[in-house]
Amino acid sequence: MSRRSIFLLAATVVLLYFSLIVFMLSPLHGARQVYYSVGHRYALRGAAGVTWCKEPRYQPAGPSGRAVALASFPGSGNTWLRYLLQQATGIWTGSVYMDFGLKVRGFPAENVTDATVLVVKTHESPPPDQFKAAVLLVRNPRDAILADFNRHLMGHVGTAPISAFKMKSPDRKKSAWAVYVSKNVAAWEALHARWLSRFAGRVLVVLYGALVRDTRQALLDILDFLNHTVPEEDIYCAVVNKEGIYRRRKKLQDFDPFSADMYRAMAAARARVAALITDYYRRHNITDKLPSIGDLLAQ
Ligand SMILES: *[C@@H]1O[C@H](CO)[C@@H](O)[C@H](O)[C@H]1NC(C)=O
Ligand SMILES: *[C@@H]1O[C@H](CO)[C@@H](O)[C@H](O)[C@H]1NC(C)=O
Ligand SMILES: *[C@@H]1O[C@H](CO)[C@@H](O)[C@H](O)[C@H]1NC(C)=O
Repeated sequence: MSRRSIFLLAATVVLLYFSLIVFMLSPLHGARQVYYSVGHRYALRGAAGVTWCKEPRYQPAGPSGRAVALASFPGSGNTWLRYLLQQATGIWTGSVYMDFGLKVRGFPAENVTDATVLVVKTHESPPPDQFKAAVLLVRNPRDAILADFNRHLMGHVGTAPISAFKMKSPDRKKSAWAVYVSKNVAAWEALHARWLSRFAGRVLVVLYGALVRDTRQALLDILDFLNHTVPEEDIYCAVVNKEGIYRRRKKLQDFDPFSADMYRAMAAARARVAALITDYYRRHNITDKLPSIGDLLAQ
């Protein structure tokens, strides 16, 4: 063998060896392996995997192209209802926000706001002309404010420690928590008032308490409002899997962070929002599905 061919052979071996290493290390190779080993089940990827009743997809946008809003005050169960609706219909739900945490865990349509999604999450006031209708998810202010406070501190499923409620505000007169509550009770009332009085499209009020108590009926009412029919077994599957992965489990035991003054302010705000809901239903002649206002008034 000539020196030249020995050199060529050696070079080829070295080249092959290195390309093999590069191939093994390449992220594409790693990604493919994961992809093939779990098949097309998006649901099984990641530590906090979601198992879908059926793999969700996008829907055709329809002639108006405008989506239905899923409006709520933060902490009112918006993510949980999105999860339930995705399970029941097999259609993704969108959001006016881009929450990267949610995007990789079962909500790939974050930041999608057109009618290719079933509903679009928003915590904002109704924007002019963006939505054709709205599902307004209403939770009592106490639990919503507490859930959102927990989310700010601990993320989507954690619970804030008791010390978090005792920190002083900058002016040292009230606790930071008291300032937070009074600001948020006002915001809670204002958000519902705007959707019930300023939004031009139809509004379906869904009370969080009713959604928890009779998830099946609440889903049927929402799907009816969306003109979306699904087979009974899909509703059943959604209800059976209703716990999902986005419910906060741990509750603070024997500690109520709300003072009597806070309860008074919340009761007044709840009564005013309940009156607005009743008024909305009366104005629109909706008699069959008047939500039980007791649910809203009960703590
Ligand atoms: C959200 O969507 C808009 C329009 O589709 C796009 O311009 C924007 O970059 C997106 N935001 C993020 C954070 O991906
Ligand atoms: C459902 O259908 C009714 C009757 O056709 C229509 O008035 C209503 O706007 C539709 N609702 C939604 C959310 O598209
Ligand atoms: C509400 O219903 C009443 C009686 O059924 C009817 O006379 C009235 O026109 C309706 N109003 C609206 C806004 O549909």
